[in-house]
Amino acid sequence: VRTLFVSSEIYPLAKTGGLADVSAALPAALAGQCTDMRLLLPSYVPALDQARLTGRDVDLGEILGFGPVRLLGARTPDSDLPLWLVDCPALFRRDGTPYQQANGADWPDNHLRFALFAHAAARLALDRAGQDWRPDVLHLNDWQTGLVPAILAAQARPRPRTLLTIHNVAFQGDFPGGVFPRLGLAPWLYSPDGIEFYGQVSFLKAGIRFADKLTTVSPTYAREILTPKRGCGLDGVLGTRARDLVGILNGVDYSVWSPTHGLNLAARFGPQDLVGKEACKASLQRELGLETSERAPLLVFVNRLTEQKMADVLPDAVASICRRGGQLAVLGRGDPGIEARVRAMGREQPGRVAVRIGYDEPSARRMKAGGDFSLVPSRFEPCGLTQLYAMRYGAVPIVSRVGGLSDTVVDTDDTTVSTDTATGVVFDAVDLSGLLGAIDRAFALFESDETLRQVRRRGMTVDFGWSRSAVRYRELYELLAGTSDRAPEGRAPSIADAAA
Ligand code: ADP
Ligand code: GLC
Repeated sequence: VRTLFVSSEIYPLAKTGGLADVSAALPAALAGQCTDMRLLLPSYVPALDQARLTGRDVDLGEILGFGPVRLLGARTPDSDLPLWLVDCPALFRRDGTPYQQANGADWPDNHLRFALFAHAAARLALDRAGQDWRPDVLHLNDWQTGLVPAILAAQARPRPRTLLTIHNVAFQGDFPGGVFPRLGLAPWLYSPDGIEFYGQVSFLKAGIRFADKLTTVSPTYAREILTPKRGCGLDGVLGTRARDLVGILNGVDYSVWSPTHGLNLAARFGPQDLVGKEACKASLQRELGLETSERAPLLVFVNRLTEQKMADVLPDAVASICRRGGQLAVLGRGDPGIEARVRAMGREQPGRVAVRIGYDEPSARRMKAGGDFSLVPSRFEPCGLTQLYAMRYGAVPIVSRVGGLSDTVVDTDDTTVSTDTATGVVFDAVDLSGLLGAIDRAFALFESDETLRQVRRRGMTVDFGWSRSAVRYRELYELLAGTSDRAPEGRAPSIADAAA
């Protein structure tokens, strides 16, 4: 199946979160499964700096009045897959993150930036770029690509089929209705049956309405987003597409995320040899200015500092962690108000609490390798990769029972599974008291050496590699491309499967 994988982030070219990791690892896994896979990304400055340009560029012509747009031919750095960078200097060659200026505010023209990106994808898909390569399927990701199915819906058949993966329904790409005429779309699309959403233009709604198939990144989240509590207002629209929506669990690229190759670590280690993990803990404590103590349970939090991740509650939990003899290390960036409170928290308990505001992959690896526990108390979590990476590094996850967290971590108290499958601590009440209760249980686990070792080892050996989930995407591609009539089974891999 010829597939164009369209994403606004691909690791290491551009990353703000898990989308980048998925957009690097999933296409690579699929390329190994008989898919003719090519990728499309905006030509942000760091992407231009890191991609291997091939010089095989393509003129796309004028789009939305931004001058001639080009596709720069390239290869992905790690997987060596064909990649095009959509080059529109006025929109993408800027300092800042893919979505925000250096001061943290969204780019005011994000609607134009990602409308142009979508038109570029559609032109390429309709073979109007003179490429002699026409994808059977466009695999789209999140609101930044949501207009593509709407653009294609206005085209005559035959046209390529579309699959939209929703990584987080809380990010919808909503803009004032007044911008609609600038987006280069058929006028009839601006209606409640189209992409209008309470007087706004919703890029994500566009994708949900018009994509041929929808996926999201865990089975539980696929159910959750159909409810008013978790659908962020789109549950009604999603409900009309429920038959086309399936949850497929994200995977992990263990060639990047594993303590056995020791990348960025003080020592290598693995499930059968945890000595290196002790060295990593001591080294991390020194690096962060924490008291060097083997007996102090070290909790790490490596995540966006946002309400989704319950980062706002950390300052209220810290006293209790320290009173119990624990240590807390935080690495993250995000909401400025939460950043300020977390930073202040770091100053209050020197030696017991360390806070690093910023984004730093090597440091993220060292924190997971040195941590005894990884805190992921999200209020909602579509899948979550942090807890999967942490498990491989032996940092036992403490997670809330939501979305992908509940699909990937088995609670030590879960009596419905046999005790020898537990991989972490899962809590139900997603608030401060629920979190503190879970931390209490984690500290009790820390006291019982043998059980802790078992839980840790199990987490380190559970296989969340991409192969199983990639097969399910491939089946969807084949279904869409008409080369197969076998519907992918509705059941996603369960914990028991993963542990087997
Ligand atoms: P989300 O995509 O919602 O942010 P995920 O858990 O799926 O959450 O993915 C987060 C990714 O970003 C992981 O790869 C995690 O290690 C990484 N990450 C988050 N914050 C930081 C940070 N401050 N420094 C380094 N890596 C980070
Ligand atoms: C989103 C979600 C996260 C998920 C990631 C990759 O950022 O918040 O849960 O793991 O996308 O799919």
